[in-house]
Amino acid sequence: AGRSICSAASPAVTTSKGLNKSSPRAVGAAQQGHSSGLQVSSRRWSQGPATQWRPVQVLDEWVAKEARPISLRQLMVFGRSLTESRLLSSANYVRTELPTRIAHRLRDMQRLPYVVVTNPHVSDVYELYYSAFDTLRRTREIKTLEDNEKFCEQLGQLLRGHLSVIPKLTMGMLECSGLMPADELDKFMNTILRSRISRRVIAEQHLSLTETFNSDWYSPGSTVAEADYIGEIFLKCVAKDVVEGCGKAVQELARSANGPDVQIPEIKVDGHLDATFPYILSHLQYIIGELLRNSVQAVIENHASKSKDPSSKPPPIEVTLCEAQQHVIIRISDQGGGIPRDILPYLWSFGKGPRKSQRLEHLTQVPLLATTLQELRVDGNFSGLQDGEGQTNNSLASLSTRSPNLRLGMGLPLSRVYAEYWAGGLELHSLEGYGVDAFLQISKLGNKNEQLATRASMDA
Ligand code: COI
Repeated sequence: AGRSICSAASPAVTTSKGLNKSSPRAVGAAQQGHSSGLQVSSRRWSQGPATQWRPVQVLDEWVAKEARPISLRQLMVFGRSLTESRLLSSANYVRTELPTRIAHRLRDMQRLPYVVVTNPHVSDVYELYYSAFDTLRRTREIKTLEDNEKFCEQLGQLLRGHLSVIPKLTMGMLECSGLMPADELDKFMNTILRSRISRRVIAEQHLSLTETFNSDWYSPGSTVAEADYIGEIFLKCVAKDVVEGCGKAVQELARSANGPDVQIPEIKVDGHLDATFPYILSHLQYIIGELLRNSVQAVIENHASKSKDPSSKPPPIEVTLCEAQQHVIIRISDQGGGIPRDILPYLWSFGKGPRKSQRLEHLTQVPLLATTLQELRVDGNFSGLQDGEGQTNNSLASLSTRSPNLRLGMGLPLSRVYAEYWAGGLELHSLEGYGVDAFLQISKLGNKNEQLATRASMDA
């Protein structure tokens, strides 16, 4: 079906090499059945940058391949003892897996309505992805450590080059909401973001393993038994420490944004304080950071508007940790007044919502930077806070790039994408007029595969 969309229905042109080429705009148009515009369009675009025309067949070939999902446990076992041949097989997995995963997303983009795929932000993302796909699919088998060094440089460049994807997609989706059904748009966003997380995980894991292999302290073939990390995976993520670290950073952020006279709520942690599991720390920090950030700001605002004495201490945010056999559950309860009724139905939506125009306004004013710590790290632009021991405190590095009252409506849906990616979940219960309980569920054994299917397709 994919092939027929591109090669038969779209304005294909035959090049001197006899390849059928197609652009996302053209495919979008074809799907919309704007046949009368096709010839004109194809003539105009054929004079544009060469990158706008693609060999259709090549994409079909890659779309026919299935992604090969991995689990945290597989990544840990694989990276525990590194040899040259293991490192090279990791490189070759990434070399073939990335273009496979990107090809599927390119095909999704080609299937978007014409008006959406021609949005400048969306088509910029398409260009970025096509170019990455093309570079990676042309990369030859990695046979030596030297090949791997070059490959790692290429990966680093791609990771840096793709930092603009989330702001571009956010802008694109906000501009395009109303131009396609909201649930389709959310499904598209869920899939593309989840896939992006997955690609960054496998690329960054390989870069980290290479760094370990090359480091002075590592002798190839030995087991990294004592290490805290295997690649990007933090082996002993202590839930209490992560909550406290993120809490501190959020409170500092709130203090600087709201001024010294405003009382910041305390964050209390109780329950199973020893709960520990392997995880990618920056993913957890992103989710917990967003949840606490929402709670702290809601409590401050609610207290200022409701309390007879606004200079009094606001009610604390209570975090309860619960360790079960397969999961760790983190409940964050605040007394911030609950979620306004007009927002409730759109809580998990990327494009739709009554405050959309406000979000768009914010977005055009504020350059959104990286989403997670890893992205900041590759950007070389890490502006993390310092903790008491002078260590770089990773928590909320990303949040420190924007003010707590900047509400783009992306934090919650993106947090849920992160939570579900490693087979967890995120739910919110609003107690109208009182507060919110957020439940974050983490799969603690690391034995679940990354979840590449979207929520909508799982529901179906
Ligand atoms: C992304 O960040 O969007 C990616 O797809 C990264 C990948 C090309 C390494």
